[in-house]
Amino acid sequence: MSLKPFGAAALNQPLIGQPGGRSRLETPAAVLDLDIFERNIARLAQTCKRAGIAFRPHAKSHKCAEIARRQMAAGASGICCAKPGELLALFEGGANDLMLSAPIASAAKIDALARAAARGARIGVVVDRLNLVAAYAEAASRHGTRFDVFVDLDTGLRRSGVASAQEAVALACAVTDQASLRYVGVQAYQGRVQHIEGFAARRSANNKANRLLTAMLDVLKQAGLAPGIVSGGGTGSHLLDGQAQVLTEVQPGSYVFMDEAYNPVDIYGAGGPEFGPALRVAVTVVGHSSAGFAITDGGSKSFAPDGPPPRVFLGGALVGRIEWCGDEFGRILPEPGYGTLPIGTVVECTVPHCDPTINLHDFLHVVSEGRLVALWSIEARGRAD
Ligand SMILES: Cc1ncc(COP(=O)(O)O)c(C=O)c1O
Repeated sequence: MSLKPFGAAALNQPLIGQPGGRSRLETPAAVLDLDIFERNIARLAQTCKRAGIAFRPHAKSHKCAEIARRQMAAGASGICCAKPGELLALFEGGANDLMLSAPIASAAKIDALARAAARGARIGVVVDRLNLVAAYAEAASRHGTRFDVFVDLDTGLRRSGVASAQEAVALACAVTDQASLRYVGVQAYQGRVQHIEGFAARRSANNKANRLLTAMLDVLKQAGLAPGIVSGGGTGSHLLDGQAQVLTEVQPGSYVFMDEAYNPVDIYGAGGPEFGPALRVAVTVVGHSSAGFAITDGGSKSFAPDGPPPRVFLGGALVGRIEWCGDEFGRILPEPGYGTLPIGTVVECTVPHCDPTINLHDFLHVVSEGRLVALWSIEARGRAD
C-alpha cells in the first residue's frame, strides 16, 4: 500500500487503533463505517440466499479489491466491472472472477484483457455485435486463453444490448462457434428501474422489463441456446428479482455504501431504509462565513454532487446539511436546535452519489465505533478507461 506523502491517508495512518481517532482524522477523507458496511453485505447476501438468486455485485460503486474479496466471501458468484481499466486494476489488487458488464470498442483493451486472462484472471465479457465476438475470440486464442461470454440484451435501458431475440440467437450461435469463448449466459440490466422510489411502481416497471426478457429467453431456449446465467438488476430491484425468478443473478452495486440518491427508495417495500449509509466523507470546519455559517474543507473535489445534498453527522447526531460552496468548500446549514460548529470540528457527511464520489479518493478510512481501524486502497480510483 503506497501512501502519497502529505495526503490525508498518510497523515491518518498513525491514528490506526487509537481511541478517538475517528474524530481526529485529517480531511477530506472517504470514511467507511465498518459495522454498517458489514450489515449491508450480510443483508443482501441473506436476501438473495433466501430468494434462491445468485449475486454478482458491481464494483463500479467501490473500485476496491478488499471489498470485492469480502463480497466473494459472502457468497458472490463474481464481481462486475464497468470498464477494462477498472477490471484490470482490481485484478492487480488481488480480486478475481471479474465480468466486464459493458461492450467495448478497442482492440488494445481486448488484448490487455486477454493478456490478464492468460495470467490467471477469470474474465467474463458481454457482446452486443458479431464483430465484438470475433475480436474477443481472436485475442483469447492468440494468448492461449478463454473468455466467458454473456450476450447483452436491451430490455428498455437503450444503452447497450440487442433488443431482438433473433439478434440474440445469432450472437449466442457465434459465441458457441468459437473454441476460445464459452457461452455462459445473457445480461439484461434494467437500469431505469433501480431508483423508482415506490415499491409498487418499481415492481411494475421491473415486471414490464421481465416480460420483454422472458420473450427473448423463450426464443433462445427454442434455438437450443438456453442461457445458464441470466444476469441483471441492482440494489433497487434485487428483492423483486428474487421474487420474479426471471434473472438467475443480480448485480447490485450501491448497497455496500448507499447514498442520498438511493435514500428515498423503499427497497424492500417496508418503509426502509434496509441498507445503511456506510460511506461518508469526513470534512473539517475550517472557518466561519461572515453570515455565521460553518465552512468545511470539502466541495465537489471530494464529493460527486450529482444527488441530493449530504447530511452532516457529529458523533452520530444529525447536525445539518451541506450546501455547496465551490470546488473545495461546503457550507453547513444547521438543523433546528444546532448552532455554528466550532472551527476544527471534524464531521461526517453522507454522499449524494457513491460511485463517482469513490472515484475521487485514494483510500477508504475504515472506522469502527470511535477508532480508525484500517486503510483500504481504492485500486481502481480514476479508472474510467
Ligand atoms: C450494468 C450495471 N449493473 C449493475 C449496476 C448497479 O446498480 P446499483 O448501484 O443501482 O445497484 C449498474 C449501475 O449503474 C450497472 O450499470
